[in-house]
Amino acid sequence: MTRPLLIAPSILASDFSKLGEDVRAVDQAGGDWIHLDVMDGHFVPNITFGPDVVKALRPHSRKIFDVHLMIAPCDPHLEAFAKAGSDIITVHVEAGPHLHRSLQAIRALGKKAGVSLNPATPENTIEHVLDLVDLVLVMSVNPGFGGQAFIPAAVEKIARIRAMIGGRPIDLEVDGGVTPETAAAVTAAGANVLVAGSAVFKGGASAYRGNISAIRNAGALARGEAA
Ligand code: DX5
Ligand code: ZN
Repeated sequence: MTRPLLIAPSILASDFSKLGEDVRAVDQAGGDWIHLDVMDGHFVPNITFGPDVVKALRPHSRKIFDVHLMIAPCDPHLEAFAKAGSDIITVHVEAGPHLHRSLQAIRALGKKAGVSLNPATPENTIEHVLDLVDLVLVMSVNPGFGGQAFIPAAVEKIARIRAMIGGRPIDLEVDGGVTPETAAAVTAAGANVLVAGSAVFKGGASAYRGNISAIRNAGALARGEAA
């Protein structure tokens, strides 16, 4: 069954002095999920925010909070992110030695579980957890910063993971360098959730709606759907 095409604006690219306002703005501009990038300065070379910020943003939107943890270790923080109002919590396969435990813990907290892979990580590392996840997040840049160039090898990786997922009810998400130009190839390869930071937030609040539509239309066209 084909899963719906969804656009997840990444607030990493928003103005951090008015996060709540920007979350409301991308919600109202048609974003399907809100993608929140949590970075620890250890697993990735940048630091963003923790569960208190997720909690503070929660009242600003009723849309799915798609929380991307780029932290190691992640296990000690899962409960806090669940209590903060996350709907999906995604951990990296590279972030710790006990991936099953992390994914089981997320589901035990009543949340959807996601697993993410860095560009250099082969897809066979997630083959054994596909029955424990609701989402696979393919990184198409090395995580840590917004505004990086899309790594083209991600397209074939997405296609291989799409085939590996088969009929399981799993969303396939791509993150990094997604623009109206790269959206077509990743969608044709089988990604159904497109994270976009700079491509959504460029041009200021009045441009958000058009920016989200441009990505959605490119993806819809590649799926053979009416835009
Ligand atoms: C990168 C983050 C991304 C980032 C994407 O480590 O995981 O979510 O916001 O930004 P763009 O869309 O600008 O590449
Ligand atoms: Zn992300």
